[in-house]
Amino acid sequence: MPAASKSSARRQPARELVFGDLWEYDPAPETADPQIRSSYDLFIDGKFVPPAGGKSFPSINPATEKKLCDVALGAAADVDAACRAAQRAHQRVWGKMSGQERGKYLYRIARLLQDRAREFAVAETMDGGKPIKEARDFDVPMAAAHFFYHAGWADKLEHLAPGRTVAPYGVVGQVIPWNFPLMMLAWKIAPALAAGNCVVLKPAETSSITAMKFAEVCQQAELPAGVVNLVTGGGETGAALVQHPLTTKVAFTGSTEVGRRILCSLAETEKKVTLELGGKAANLIFEDAPLDQAVEGIVNGIFFNQGHVCCAGSRLLVQESIAEEVLARLKRRMAVLRVGDPLDKNTDIGAIHSREQWRKIEALVKSGVAQGAEMHQSACRLPARGYFFRPTVFSGVSMSHRIAQEEIFGPVLSILTFRTPEEAVEKANNTAYGLSAGVWTDKGSLILKMSRQLRAGVVWANTYNKFDPASPFGGYKQSGFGREGGPQGLLEYLRVA
Ligand code: NAI
Ligand code: MG
Repeated sequence: MPAASKSSARRQPARELVFGDLWEYDPAPETADPQIRSSYDLFIDGKFVPPAGGKSFPSINPATEKKLCDVALGAAADVDAACRAAQRAHQRVWGKMSGQERGKYLYRIARLLQDRAREFAVAETMDGGKPIKEARDFDVPMAAAHFFYHAGWADKLEHLAPGRTVAPYGVVGQVIPWNFPLMMLAWKIAPALAAGNCVVLKPAETSSITAMKFAEVCQQAELPAGVVNLVTGGGETGAALVQHPLTTKVAFTGSTEVGRRILCSLAETEKKVTLELGGKAANLIFEDAPLDQAVEGIVNGIFFNQGHVCCAGSRLLVQESIAEEVLARLKRRMAVLRVGDPLDKNTDIGAIHSREQWRKIEALVKSGVAQGAEMHQSACRLPARGYFFRPTVFSGVSMSHRIAQEEIFGPVLSILTFRTPEEAVEKANNTAYGLSAGVWTDKGSLILKMSRQLRAGVVWANTYNKFDPASPFGGYKQSGFGREGGPQGLLEYLRVA
C-alpha cells in the first residue's frame, strides 16, 4: 500500500520518482505453523533417542535472537550407535533391496517434502534467517527435486559405468554446513541412498531443525530403520563421525579450514572422501553485456541468501569502459533492496545466520576500509533486533586486499576492473579457490573461451546461481574435490570395479 498518496507524489513534480521512496509495503508475513518441537533428540535406527551424555544446546532465530528449541548434543557413543545402526540396515535391508524398491522410498520422501513444503520453508527461515521467498521457492523445492532426480537413478546404476560393476560403500558419514540446511542434506542423502548406502549425517550446530523434521519424513515414508541416522552436535561430533571406522565414505561441505583438517585426519585410512569447500568466485562483466540483466545477476550473485553461498559472485570484475555505469546502476538497484524480517514475503535480504558470522563479516568490511577500498552501503532501515547487515559494495579494490582474497560469506561485494579478456582471466584465476564463476557478454565465442580458461567447477553464462540436480557441482584447488549432482555426483557414492 502506498504510504504517500499518488496526489502527494504529483504535488512534488520536481523530485525524481524512485520506487520504494514514496511507496511503502504493508507487512506480508508468512503465517504457516512451522511445527517446531520444544526439543529434538537424535534420530538413530528409526527412532528419536536422547543423547548418551544427556546434553543439549539451543537453536536460535537470528532475526529475533530468541531461542526456538533445544537440540541434542551427540557424543562419540551416539555416533557409534548411529554407525552400527546404519551398518545393520545396509547388511540386512537396504543393500539387498532392488534399485526399483529403493527408488520408491526416494519418490515417497520427495512427495512428502512437497506436501510439507510450507511448514519446512517457515522452519528453515526461522532457524537460519533466510528470506521466506528463498526458502519457499528455492531451498525446499530443490531439496525435493534432488530426491525425485535420484529416485529415477536408483534402478539404473549400471548405466553409470557401462561394462563395469558398481557397488555401494555401505555406511556413509556426512557433515553439512548451515547456509542451506535442508538442501545440503538432500544433496548428501538422496544420492547416497539411491546408490544403496546407509547414512549418518550431522547437521551444522546452528541449523538442525529442518534435518530433524526430515527425520519425521523418514518415519512417515516408512523408510527401514537405520537407513538414515541424524546425529546433531558441533565440530567434535562431526570429527567422531568422519573418523568412525565404519564410515567407508565421507562427504563434507563447509569451510576450507575444517575440510583440510578432515583430510589430514583421514590421510592414513582408505576412506573415500569428497570435500565441497569455500569459494571466492569472479563474476565477469564485459562491455557488450546486457547491463540491466547483468546488474540483476550481480545482485543475485552476492545478495542471495545474505551472501552465505559458497559459490557467491563475491568478486565483480568489470571491464573498465563500463565500470562507472555498472556501479551507478548497481547502487540504484541496491537502494530498493528490502532488508528485514525474513518471514515477510517481500523481504529480499534476511538476517545474517549467527552473531559469530556477523562479527566475521564486520571484521572483513573494516579491513576493506582500512586497506583503502571505497565502501558504499545501502541506506535501508535495519530492524532493531537480530543480526542484520547492510548490503555493501567496495570499489577501488586491489587484488592484495583481504576483501579480494578471503571468503566473506556475507552481503559484501568487491569490485575490480580489467581491460582485456586476458587480464580478466588472470585476475579471476588469481585466488586459492576455484568453485564457480560468471561471464556476462553478448559474444558466444567469448563465453566458450572464458569457460575453458576459468579455473572454476561451474561457469555460468549470462546468469548466476542456477542449480539443477542433473548438473554436477564442485570445485578445483582449495574449493575441494568431488562433484554433487548429476551422474558424476552419484558415482561418488559407488565403488566401480
Ligand atoms: P565449519 O566448516 O566449521 O562448519 C561446517 C560443518 O563442519 C558444521 O557441521 C560443523 O559442525 C562441522 N565441523 C566443524 N569442525 C569439524 C571437524 N573437525 N570435523 C568434522 N566436522 C566439523 O564452518 P563455520 O565455522 O560454520 O563457518 C566458518 C566459515 O566457513 C564461514 O564464515 C564461511 O566463510 C565458511 N563456510 C563455507 C561454507 C561453504 O559451503 N563453502 C559453508 C559454511 C561455512
Ligand atoms: Mg538457528
